[in-house]
Amino acid sequence: MKQFTTISSLTTYLEEPISKGLTIGFVPTMGALHPGHLNLVKRSKLENDLTVCSIFVNPIQFNNASDLAQYPRTLELDLKLLENIRCDVVFTPEGTEMYPEGQENTLDIDFGTLDKVMEGKFRPGHFKGVAIVVEKLLSIVKPSRAYFGKKDYQQLAIIKFMVDKTGMPVKIVPCETIREPDGLAMSSRNVRLTAAERNLAPSIYQALVAVKEQAGQQPIGILKEWAIDKIQENSAMKIEYFEIGDKETLMPVENWDHLDRSVAFIALFLGDVRLIDNIELFS
Ligand code: PAF
Repeated sequence: MKQFTTISSLTTYLEEPISKGLTIGFVPTMGALHPGHLNLVKRSKLENDLTVCSIFVNPIQFNNASDLAQYPRTLELDLKLLENIRCDVVFTPEGTEMYPEGQENTLDIDFGTLDKVMEGKFRPGHFKGVAIVVEKLLSIVKPSRAYFGKKDYQQLAIIKFMVDKTGMPVKIVPCETIREPDGLAMSSRNVRLTAAERNLAPSIYQALVAVKEQAGQQPIGILKEWAIDKIQENSAMKIEYFEIGDKETLMPVENWDHLDRSVAFIALFLGDVRLIDNIELFS
């Protein structure tokens, strides 16, 4: 596996495969890799001639300094994991490489309501930071396909929208959420849960599954209240939002007329760890 830390060395390396018309698959990450990330890399390897993974903890997408400081960083282990699954290229830039001093970070895209609801509401500026870094990374790597997990459903919608608006020639490939055997969605943040919190965590997915089973059978408002109460039966769980929204606009849905487009979304604090998850109610 080749490792690059500068944009110029990576782009020079990629010039040849790109000029030969080889397909490049790209998996952007913030490291602390888990089987969910590795699944994206494996899928990319199956579908492309060359796979590039980036590891960069993007400071401008954290709206909270302590969240950034506490974000797990396990670079040595990450490199081993990528090496083991034969990822071809890893890009591990420093902050100054991605955001040189004096260079403004802007992206002139109006995401409408997409970045105002749910995560957008509770983490102001987060999606702007995500969109800026993903746009930069896609311009550097110039992949044919880029892989994102559905656990970050809203992020996926934002990135699809951005790619659409900018006309970047890349196919965004959504990949299913990878879960622990007990249902907890894999996340780099899970390592911060205490043993007691980890034992409680599967109840999040259990509640989502129960919502899916009951979807369409009782009014949305009642079902939402039921889910919130169910999860918060445990005092360690503090819900930020539980929403049922449209799979594309993400806007809250008021009734089951479009159950075939509805997704349940949740964000909560378990202790001081913020977790998100979702379930498509139609699949
Ligand atoms: O999902 C993530 O890990 C990050 O938001 C991403 C897409 C790598 C951008 O920093």
